[in-house]
Amino acid sequence: MHDLIIFILIISALLVVASLLQPLAERLRLPHSVLLAAVGVAIAAASVTLLQVRGVPMLREAAEAVSGLSFNSSTYILVFLPALLFQAALTIDVRRMMEDAAPILLLAVVAVFVATAVIGLALWPLAGVPLVVCLLLGSIVATTDPAAVVAIFRDIGAPARLVRLVEGESLLNDAAAIAIFYVLLEIITSGDEPDLLMGAWDLAMDLGGGTLLGIVGARLGVAMIPLLRGRRTAEVTLTLALPYLVFVSGDHFLGVSGVVAVAVAGLVFGAGSRSRLSPSGWAYLDAVWEQVAFLAGSLVFILAALMVPKLLGTVSLHDGLLLLVLVAAALVARALVLFLLLPPLTLLKLSAKISNSYKLVLTWGGLRGAVTLALALSVTEARGIGGEDQRIVTVLATGFVLFTLFINGTTLRPVIKLLGLNRLSPLNQAIRNQVLALSLADVRDSVQQTATEYEFPPTVARAVQKPYDARIQEVTSAGSLEEQISDRDRIVLGLIALANRERQLVLEHHGLQTVSGDIIEGLLRNAGEIYDGARTAGRIGYNRAARKILRLPRAFRFAYALHRWAGIERPLARQVAKRFDKFLVRRLVLEELIRFNSRNLKPLLGIRVAELLGEVLSGRLDASTKALDALGLQYPEYAEALSQRFLRKLALRREMVHFESLFEDGLIGQELFEDLRRGVDARQKEAERRPKLDLKLDKVALIAQVPLFNTLAPDELKRLARVLRSRLALPDQTFIRTGDRGTAMYFISSGAVEVVLPDRRIRLGRGDFFGEMALIDGGPRRADVVALTYCTLLELRSGDFEKFLKANPDISGRIDEVAQERGVKRVA
Ligand code: CMP
Repeated sequence: MHDLIIFILIISALLVVASLLQPLAERLRLPHSVLLAAVGVAIAAASVTLLQVRGVPMLREAAEAVSGLSFNSSTYILVFLPALLFQAALTIDVRRMMEDAAPILLLAVVAVFVATAVIGLALWPLAGVPLVVCLLLGSIVATTDPAAVVAIFRDIGAPARLVRLVEGESLLNDAAAIAIFYVLLEIITSGDEPDLLMGAWDLAMDLGGGTLLGIVGARLGVAMIPLLRGRRTAEVTLTLALPYLVFVSGDHFLGVSGVVAVAVAGLVFGAGSRSRLSPSGWAYLDAVWEQVAFLAGSLVFILAALMVPKLLGTVSLHDGLLLLVLVAAALVARALVLFLLLPPLTLLKLSAKISNSYKLVLTWGGLRGAVTLALALSVTEARGIGGEDQRIVTVLATGFVLFTLFINGTTLRPVIKLLGLNRLSPLNQAIRNQVLALSLADVRDSVQQTATEYEFPPTVARAVQKPYDARIQEVTSAGSLEEQISDRDRIVLGLIALANRERQLVLEHHGLQTVSGDIIEGLLRNAGEIYDGARTAGRIGYNRAARKILRLPRAFRFAYALHRWAGIERPLARQVAKRFDKFLVRRLVLEELIRFNSRNLKPLLGIRVAELLGEVLSGRLDASTKALDALGLQYPEYAEALSQRFLRKLALRREMVHFESLFEDGLIGQELFEDLRRGVDARQKEAERRPKLDLKLDKVALIAQVPLFNTLAPDELKRLARVLRSRLALPDQTFIRTGDRGTAMYFISSGAVEVVLPDRRIRLGRGDFFGEMALIDGGPRRADVVALTYCTLLELRSGDFEKFLKANPDISGRIDEVAQERGVKRVA
């Protein structure tokens, strides 16, 4: 009991220290971990010294407690590691990461192997321990901690892609390094002869199995989100459990890599849940996890640092020499990968070009952190590895972490300055000036207005305005944006701003809960593609990416195939309805973007560029409107029902906002508020149901729309209905392809198609038919037939064709006649 109290006391005190160090680190412009480690070492050193001092029993007791503080080191792995990895994975945007999958995998996985090998081989001749032990050390120090580099990169406005690269690399290299670490540890502790083949096989199983486990675990987690009904505390609780569940079941029950499972689970969960959680729910989750990771990271650093003085007691000059070799080998390994292995990827266009300055920073900025420390500490208690082997690994790994923190960490900023990476590019400089000029002018004007309102004497206003005038003068003297950067660059700039805004607008719609999560996800993904398109290929890239949304998604095509080949209608109706929702939101977003362009971008980028951007946007708007109209034309009642539902949800949302503000202002009580909320919830649920779309493929109704069949008697109609099948054609769909074998002909009940002949196009509408020629002469299709709108068709298959003609001589004659006009020669 007493021990527990002391333990809690010390941990709390350490947390106080960690919290105080954060602002200090910012003030000193040093990575937080550097200060944590430094203070940890200092505390431990002080307590060791105090132990020697007699006299003050209180202090002595405290010192004893601190130096006696030791975790069972598997705690580090079991408690802290899953949290650290999961959080890192959660915040990574997987889709964006995928674009740089090649360099990330190279840096992460290949680099870990290279580092393990180079470091292991460099130390082996000198360290006096077996090669496996040296390799084990290599794998421990192969993990990198991105926090410091990422923080600095964000500060200096490094390309976002580079930041993603560093984050992605560090996450995956943690996973890979730890997996290698376990395989090596297994070899050492089992005492068997190392078997390279077995080791490689184990590793492959570990990685593959872990990946699979992570995916399954995360998918299950994502599937559970709807059950939590938007309660954010419940959502966070679920995510807190997830990493530990997959970690423990992987490592202890399934015999696959738990860390890999945790990292993959974080990635998959992050990607899948973002659109299923409300935006505020996601923000909350993100914040809690940031806090958890901060706690875990801080504690690992301090606790590990506390061990340092004890380790130092055993250190010799020889260890110092080994540490220098280790440092050199690690740098060489990293440089090898960045300068030799990355360039071929760039040549193959698998990776964006990274300048040599940034490569240098990446080499120097490969700080090691909590994960390396946690692994090093876990070795101290691993069974089967002891004595000098264990001492060397722990001492060198800890020493190396401290080296990278105290030497690399403190010099990273100066290095960046030296390389000139902290200077704003001319483009950014110009934008900064323009933004400043506009905002300063705004502020100056509002000062004037306020002064007039409050009836301050003009001299007061002028005194306050004067410094603003001077600053405006200063920033505009550099010239306007139009003079400084080319039209082309400003257009790209504008497109990027539009794409960013589009993302926000889609997220706002998500907040309004007007459409379902998967639609938002599709729109978000497309907004991301548009952003990247604009960055890499300007207007062309932007437009190319924007058009992607017009394509039919895979699920749609699958549903369509079910309809066309098996006559199953339900999934297709769902997909058509979703498409409707998607274009509805898209159109609203585009209208908003057009306003954003003229309101916010015009003053910044100039009239000419804004006009051009406006054209791009209205082109997109036209495409969306056309798609919506095509649907609305075919299914007018449904279009209306959907628009109504959309508006109804918006209204409910507004209602809720009202009640919330009344409640917060204390105008209505808790009970009343809850009652109102329940009412809104119930109606919300009702509105949630998507109205059923009737594709209007009822055969009898379709037959009635074709004049050719009007002459038939009721029982003939019935027979006809048996052989015909109803089909839906989609706008722009090529329904018949030139050269194919003829399997059926079609009567048009509604909509319009176009026959594409080499020299002309012929439009056919309701009552017309097509596809008869190939059936009559048995030859290949003579032309493409493309649907112009949604069309309902009646299909007559070739098997039923002859029978049908015999039974209906009138219709048969008409078909023959038309076919002959079109150029067929009837074979007898
Ligand atoms: P088929 O050859 O089976 O497939 C292509 C179809 O295009 C063809 O049958 C006709 O139905 C239609 N088609 C071909 N030529 C013409 C034409 N000149 N005018 C109208 N329709 C045509």
